Amino acid sequence: MLKIKDLHASVDDKEILRGINLEIKAGEVHAIMGPNGSGKSTLASVIAGNERFEVTQGSIELSGEDLEEVSPEERAHKGVFLSFQYPVEIPGVSVTNFMKTAINESRKARGLEDMPAKDMLKLIREKSELLEIDRKFLSRSLNEGFSGGEKKRNEIFQMAMLEPKVAILDETDSGLDIDALRIVASGVNKLKSKDNAVILITHYQRLLEYIVPDFVHVLHNGKIVKSGGKELALELEEKGYDWLKQETAV
Ligand SMILES: Nc1ncnc2c1ncn2[C@@H]1O[C@H](COP(=O)(O)OP(=O)(O)O)[C@@H](O)[C@H]1O
Ligand SMILES: [Mg+2]
Repeated sequence: MLKIKDLHASVDDKEILRGINLEIKAGEVHAIMGPNGSGKSTLASVIAGNERFEVTQGSIELSGEDLEEVSPEERAHKGVFLSFQYPVEIPGVSVTNFMKTAINESRKARGLEDMPAKDMLKLIREKSELLEIDRKFLSRSLNEGFSGGEKKRNEIFQMAMLEPKVAILDETDSGLDIDALRIVASGVNKLKSKDNAVILITHYQRLLEYIVPDFVHVLHNGKIVKSGGKELALELEEKGYDWLKQETAV
């Protein structure tokens, strides 16, 4: 589904990603861990096509298509979803209306008509029930005065509605409280299927107690220095990142 080969990326001529290889198949959950500044968020941005970063070498393929010339918007329409680290507040635009617009934009880009209102309502009802999101929340202004947990709820709702092929969740926020953590975890667990893949970026092992990844990769200095199964996360928790720094220095 997503194939990353020897990916190098820079910002302002500073190389941040230094040869990433990663293959993600449908149905898989991959966790990307690593110390602060190792390039986790950069990797997420580069996959999503953020033009702030320059890909200097290597490639990213989505379902066999090279994404090099594909704009961030088109990538989103093709099924790449990146959660926003710092969501914008849009006063006067409800969670629901924002979502309706996003869905219809995406349909338009694929040459489809707007989704009939009846179908839209049905979809909203289905997804909000699945995620146990109440009506009141859906009519609130986007991100206005949202708590950490509510921001996460909104993010997961967006993911549910857009049904991405590859969802990238960048959980950098060390302030993620237990409530927010549970919302993300239960959302991801309910939304993952054999047809989609999830990349879960997290600094902490905690989230992985709730979402069991199929693979764990550790990023350090812009490279994946170790990959393994879910037990790798536990090992990291136990030994800390210094353990890897020592290993990789040799
Ligand atoms: N927009 C940017 N401009 C300049 N440097 C950046 C930018 N984004 C990231 N970096 C640098 O790239 C490195 C990796 O950052 P980041 O990808 O945010 O790491 P992580 O998410 O693993 O903490 C850091 O040294 C950071 O300072
Ligand atoms: Mg980050």
